[in-house]
Amino acid sequence: MLTDEENILLTQVGRGTPCGELLRRYWHPVAAAAELTDEKPIRAVKILGEELAVYRDKQGNYGLVGEHCPHRLASLAYGRVDAEGIRCPYHGWKFDGTGKCLEQPAEPADSTFKDRIKHIAYPVQYLGGLIYAYLGPAPAPLLPRWDVLVWEHGRRWIVKETVIDCNWLQAMENSVDPSHLFWLHGDTAHLAPRVKEYSEQHDFIRFEYGIRKRRTTLALATGSKPEVDEHPLLFPSVLRHVAPFKEAQSVRHNLQIRVPVDDHHTQVFRANFVPLNNERSPADAPVPFRFTPLKTGPREYRMDMVSAQDSMAWETQGALADRATEHLGVADEGVIELRKLLREQIERVQQGLDPIGVIRDPAQNQLIDLGVINERIGLYP
Ligand code: FES
Ligand SMILES: [Fe+2]
Repeated sequence: MLTDEENILLTQVGRGTPCGELLRRYWHPVAAAAELTDEKPIRAVKILGEELAVYRDKQGNYGLVGEHCPHRLASLAYGRVDAEGIRCPYHGWKFDGTGKCLEQPAEPADSTFKDRIKHIAYPVQYLGGLIYAYLGPAPAPLLPRWDVLVWEHGRRWIVKETVIDCNWLQAMENSVDPSHLFWLHGDTAHLAPRVKEYSEQHDFIRFEYGIRKRRTTLALATGSKPEVDEHPLLFPSVLRHVAPFKEAQSVRHNLQIRVPVDDHHTQVFRANFVPLNNERSPADAPVPFRFTPLKTGPREYRMDMVSAQDSMAWETQGALADRATEHLGVADEGVIELRKLLREQIERVQQGLDPIGVIRDPAQNQLIDLGVINERIGLYP
């Protein structure tokens, strides 16, 4: 249970709020690269409460600028791109990727007005099929090269899901809540019979990028060997997971990236990678993308899908869960640990320090192998 003040402290994403300033110390994806096409090279996106427009110009460079034109606030998302940048659809003001105003067609030819206009613009980088943005103070840290985004020895694809109508922390608390697995997903994951036969030990281990969640399954009935499933929460907003990929007798490694849209909405991107002998995914290859709906209508969840089951649980906690009314037990140790970590990192930023997991040394960022273990599906330490 938290007080109302603590609940707000740990959840708000806006600029100037303690948690919003912490979240601005990390890179977040704003779109899949494949969502920007020649026919539709601009998209409106909202992240950390800020309305922005992401685009790909005619040279193939990505940009991210404030959605609302600084002239009279029309949306740049309906504008045009050329080789230099993005042009407003209303009166044609043009901007480059740094927010510099390049043209104001209706102003006198000798006007210097455009030189006094600086539009909102943020750095973006492409990695593994995603366009990442950094909304924090310079200098930006390195964009983490997580294994799933960088590996080449197989097949990679990106999934974007329906926007979830709740605060981002509800999704992240779920990532350190192993006791929900059997109850929420048991029927779908064919794990339900294990509820009676197995008991589990859960450990939450801090490491340099967040919290490793270790599930040790003890087979009480059969006396067989314990099995370990260990994968990390990458602070602040990513779950690194692995699941069987039966179609190719392999495993599907994935990042579940929960991007805070605003205080009451969260956009999940999933980056998937399946190791395969006969396929390669080099860094410059296009990465396939698909959209997966989680609902068929308001509160009509597709309850045969694991991700829809999770989103049902998160949304029905409330747009912002009222943590003053909850009752945490011993089994909620991971949730308590995450809140503690979050509070500590907010304080680090307030002290002018980098929070956990911020990378500035290129030698540390060649390829970050997160070493997931899942003995049940054949991944051993
Ligand atoms: S509102 Fe954008 S150019 Fe006028
Ligand atoms: Fe789940």
